[in-house]
Amino acid sequence: MQALLAHTLENRLTGSEMTMKTLNTVLLGFGAVGRGFLALLQARHAYLQERYKLRLNLIGVATARRGSVFCSEGLNLAALSAVADRHLSEYPEQPRLIRGLEPLTMLSRPAVDVVIELTPTTYENNAEPAMSHIRTALAAGKHVITANKGPIALAYPDLVAQAEHRGVFLGYEGTVMGGTPALRMARKTLAGCHISEVRGILNGTTNFILTEMERGTSYAEALRTAQARGYAEADPTNDVEGFDAAGKLIILAHVVFGKALRMTEIDRRGITGLTPEAVQAAQAQGERWKLIAQATLQPDGRVSASVRPTRVPLSDPLASVSGGMNAITYQTDLIGNVTLIGAGAGGEATAYALLSDLIELAEWL
Ligand code: HSE
Repeated sequence: MQALLAHTLENRLTGSEMTMKTLNTVLLGFGAVGRGFLALLQARHAYLQERYKLRLNLIGVATARRGSVFCSEGLNLAALSAVADRHLSEYPEQPRLIRGLEPLTMLSRPAVDVVIELTPTTYENNAEPAMSHIRTALAAGKHVITANKGPIALAYPDLVAQAEHRGVFLGYEGTVMGGTPALRMARKTLAGCHISEVRGILNGTTNFILTEMERGTSYAEALRTAQARGYAEADPTNDVEGFDAAGKLIILAHVVFGKALRMTEIDRRGITGLTPEAVQAAQAQGERWKLIAQATLQPDGRVSASVRPTRVPLSDPLASVSGGMNAITYQTDLIGNVTLIGAGAGGEATAYALLSDLIELAEWL
């Protein structure tokens, strides 16, 4: 009881009175989002210490094909940044550096406080290897933060229960709309409202392609640019066939409605059937094609959900959302529709969601 009181009092202290918290963190996966996170960490390191009394110590990075580095005292961020696109065997020597640890071995090391899971999303093969990374980390009493949609879509109730059981934090803000706080808005900001529907543009790659096609760019060239900008999934079929948006709808259904949806229950269609002529024809008639994802809580408690290319009139707020941007409209009982628009894809934008989860974790501790 006394310990609890002391903990509560400590958390009420502000600014210079607060003690510094150090979170030893490892990254599993080091693609566009991981590199964006590294850049953000370098830029915000001092600010986090000053503003939140939070010292984020990156102690390990593990990749599937580019090796791994681990040092319980902390990696050199500038040196890591210099080799971020290369094999991690090029990271320079430092005292007590361990090379070649497998992800599951690295995350289990006693020094690790937080595991950031960023391996490529898949909804097949039970979302492996991410599912095992997350389950093993939670079982080992590590906090987990992820932008990986697969495990959160497929096993949200289970993972939340596992985290609660172990008394650790599970952060997943980056799984929907990248850095734009779509889930936090539903979980926290709209507290007390009853949300009956979510409708939005949840995939940056397809929105970018559709915007570019309106400008006369070919589908293939627009997709290549989306990949170069780090919007697209490792397998862009997930984007263009609507699986990515459907996965995000599943996560929204869990978080917003507390309902489990299966991928097969979503009426899903991608944008690959849309011709340049169809895109131009909509424009000529004052409309735009958008890949609209929608989930509605029915009076009987079921959730109906769809992902479909839809012609929207320019008067619809979603029509003005262009490029890699995303948007979501929550239909609420107390304040009507609330629409949030923001960056939905890309390494740096998604890295912000990880940072916001880390700050929430530090406040939660
Ligand atoms: N491939 C995804 C998109 C990345 O294009 O929206 C963010 O989840």
